[in-house]
Amino acid sequence: MAESNSKPGEARAQGGTIAQILASDAKPAPAPLTAEAYEFLGDADLPASRYTCPDFFWQEMTVMWSRTWQWACREEHIPGVGDHYVYDIGPYSVIVTRVAQGQIKAFINSCTHRGTRLLGEEGPGFGQSFNCPFHGWSWHLDGALKDVPGRWDFPHVCEATHSLQEAACESWQGFIFVNLERDAPPLSEQLDVLPEHFGHFPLEGRRIRLHVQKVLPANWKAAQEAFMEAYHNFTTHDSPTGANTQYDIFGPHVSRFIHNIGHYFPESLSDYPGDKWREPPLTEQELLAGLPVTQRTLEDGETARSVGAQLLRDEMGAQLNVDFSGVSDSEMLDSIEYHLFPNAFFFPGTLISMAYRFRPIGDDVDSCLFEILMLEPLPEGATYPNPPEPVRLTVEQSYTEVDELAWLGAVYDQDTSNLQLQQEGLKATRKGITLGNYQEARIRRFHLTLDKYLQAPS
Ligand code: FES
Ligand SMILES: [Fe+2]
Repeated sequence: MAESNSKPGEARAQGGTIAQILASDAKPAPAPLTAEAYEFLGDADLPASRYTCPDFFWQEMTVMWSRTWQWACREEHIPGVGDHYVYDIGPYSVIVTRVAQGQIKAFINSCTHRGTRLLGEEGPGFGQSFNCPFHGWSWHLDGALKDVPGRWDFPHVCEATHSLQEAACESWQGFIFVNLERDAPPLSEQLDVLPEHFGHFPLEGRRIRLHVQKVLPANWKAAQEAFMEAYHNFTTHDSPTGANTQYDIFGPHVSRFIHNIGHYFPESLSDYPGDKWREPPLTEQELLAGLPVTQRTLEDGETARSVGAQLLRDEMGAQLNVDFSGVSDSEMLDSIEYHLFPNAFFFPGTLISMAYRFRPIGDDVDSCLFEILMLEPLPEGATYPNPPEPVRLTVEQSYTEVDELAWLGAVYDQDTSNLQLQQEGLKATRKGITLGNYQEARIRRFHLTLDKYLQAPS
C-alpha cells in the first residue's frame, strides 16, 4: 500500500480543494467559510471501552454532562411567560421556563422537599407555578418557594433554602442552553468561534419545520461520530463525493466540515476501489440533476453549482418569501456542519439546514437518542409558528416513514445502518479504534476535550 512522505496530517486527497471551489464560485463565500484550521492531534488508537464500558459512561455522566453547556430546546418552544420545556440528560432533568419576557431560567426538575420529579415527560408545557404532586409544595415561576402545606412543621424551611435549584441558562441563535452547574463559566467560552461565524449566517430567524427523534442502537459518541466525517460516503452511501471534504478544528469545543454539493473532483476517486464513478465522471448536467431544482439544459461554460445555487435562490426564495439574493453559492448549496462539544451540530446552509443532537438515554451505554431539527428561514418580521411535535421513531423504524424528510430519509437510514454492528464489534474487539489523521480529526478533537472534562479535579 502506498504511503505518503508528508508529515502526519499533511496528506490530502488528490484533486482540488474546497477552498478552490469556494474561490471560483459566482457568488463568493463569506469570510468564515474561507477560513481553514486544521491541526494534527496525534494518531494513537482510542480504547474501545470508551463506547461500551458502564463505568466510563457514569464518569461521563457525573463529570462531563453535569458540567457542560448543552442545548436544551429552542426559544420558539417557550414563546410566552409561563411556558416551560423539560429537558432530560441521562438521570438528570431540567425545567427551562420563561419567567418574564426576555428572561429565561432553568431549574433542576426535582422537589426541594423529598426530591420528587416535578414535571413528567420531556417536552413543552405551561403553568403559572410549579407544584409537586406528592405533598403539594409549590414554587413561583422564578423558582422562589411559594407554599408549603402544613407550614407549622417546617420552621427550618424558607425561600432562601428551599426555592428550586437553579441551573445556568443562556440563549444563542434561538437555541437555549443549560449547564447543571449554576456557576458555570459563560456559554461564550464553550462556543469558541461560533458567535463570530454565525454572525454571518444567523439561525435565530429560522424556525423548526420538522423535528425527528429516533433511538439508535449505539453509544451516543459512536452515533454522532458517524456524522462527523464524510469518509464513509463511498461505502455507506455508495456516493462519489466526500474525498475532498474540508475539516477544520477551531478550538477544543468547535469543529467543522464543508462538503461541496453540485461539484466533485473525479481525480480524487483514484484512491478508492472500483471504476464505477470515475468512468466517465459525472457531467455538469448530471450534477445539476442531483439538485432539487427545476431542471434545464446547461449552456456551454455554465456549471451545475452556479446555476443550481441561483435556481435555489429563486425557487426557495419564492416558496419561503425570503430574499436570498445576498447569500453565497456555498451557503445556498453546501453541507456545512459545525459540531459543538459535546453533542450538537449546526448547519448554516440553506438547502442543508438543520441541527442535530445526540444524547444518552437513561443509563444505557448501548443506545442513544438522535434528533434532527430541519430548520427553515422565516420571512423578515414573521412570527414563529408553534414548533411541530417531534416525530418519534423506534430503533426498528425507517427514516423513509417520515415523508417530510424526502430524499434524506434513505440517507439517514444508510448513515445509521452500521451502528448496531459497530457497537457489537466494539465489544468484541481486542484493539482500540483507529482514526484517519485528516478525515477523522474531528473525532479525535472531541475525545481530547472529553478527556479534559474527565480529568478535571472534582
Ligand atoms: S416530595 Fe415534593 S412536596 Fe413532598
Ligand atoms: Fe453520511
